[in-house]
Amino acid sequence: MTDAKGKAALVTGANSGIGKDVARQLALRPEIARIYLACRNQDRATTAKAELEAETGRRIFDIVLMDVADLGSVRAGLAAIDGSIDALVMNAGVIGPQSMALTTDGVTNVFATNVLGHVALLEGLLAEGRLGKVAVFAGSEAVRGVPRLRMKRPSFVSTSADELATVIDGSYFANRKPDFNLAFGQAKYIGALWMAYLARQYPGRRFITVSPGNTTGTQAPSDLPLPMRVAAKYVMPALGLAHKLDVGAKRLVDGVTDPTLSSGAFYASAANKLNGPMVNQADFLPDLANPTFQDNANEAIHRFIT
Ligand SMILES: NC(=O)c1ccc[n+]([C@@H]2O[C@H](COP(=O)([O-])OP(=O)(O)OC[C@H]3O[C@@H](n4cnc5c(N)ncnc54)[C@H](OP(=O)(O)O)[C@@H]3O)[C@@H](O)[C@H]2O)c1
Repeated sequence: MTDAKGKAALVTGANSGIGKDVARQLALRPEIARIYLACRNQDRATTAKAELEAETGRRIFDIVLMDVADLGSVRAGLAAIDGSIDALVMNAGVIGPQSMALTTDGVTNVFATNVLGHVALLEGLLAEGRLGKVAVFAGSEAVRGVPRLRMKRPSFVSTSADELATVIDGSYFANRKPDFNLAFGQAKYIGALWMAYLARQYPGRRFITVSPGNTTGTQAPSDLPLPMRVAAKYVMPALGLAHKLDVGAKRLVDGVTDPTLSSGAFYASAANKLNGPMVNQADFLPDLANPTFQDNANEAIHRFIT
């Protein structure tokens, strides 16, 4: 983003956790004049808006009701937004056993929430000429697997559009036990490939995937089985393997504001780390820089945009 005044930002999943703190940190920047809080629940959004106004002393927050797991709701939310969005932060996400269920669009909830709704949102803004310079997608270290959390690394036979589509509609797990951790990593992997595809199509804009890293103080562990919940909330912070909410949120804010980050790249913690400085993941995940895989991800996704 430039230093010009009067910029508008939109953050999905802005009523709690990282998304809410991204909204807070963006509001502290004088060039930001409007922040849309895209949330699925009016009461939670209203509470968050009041807290953000009190914390930042700025009354620049507008609620947009949007369930990103529902394409119809995304489009209705899009229609309710006035003007252009200079900075789009696609933060809403879910993980957990319930996220394997299918939505009315025939997509797993984990894919719909983390990726598909954001595709409809971003591409809707692009089609209407209302997307400004930068879009940031919340990635995850799960893209490369996290052995410490027993999260398997997503791996594919051919990474064809047909194969990636099986992730999106859940048929990947038709003949095996559903693994919600793997499905989460797969969704973030396909999302990062899609962002890299967009970066090639629109060289004048910046499409950055950023993982907040292992971040405490969010609601994310609440849908996880008890042992994982305990590990995420207590064990990992005690072992220094997680950082605080403002640190994780700042990574996404850096995605918006740091012009040295390369469009199309995915930034996350260094190899075998879950916190600390961010590095470009293509250094050790060359698949992410493969244009054929990026095209395949884009094609697979668009089979489900109805
Ligand atoms: N925390 C971490 O360690 C970590 C690590 C890597 C990546 N991430 C990613 O960072 C992002 C934020 O995670 P978080 O830890 O802040 O989680 P969180 O506290 O659970 O926040 C998730 C936000 O997304 C919203 N959301 C969920 N489903 C939605 C839907 N269908 N429509 C609209 N909003 C929806 C939630 O709203 P409700 O209150 O309505 O549920 C909530 O505001 C996610 O994409 C996550 O995958 C987090």
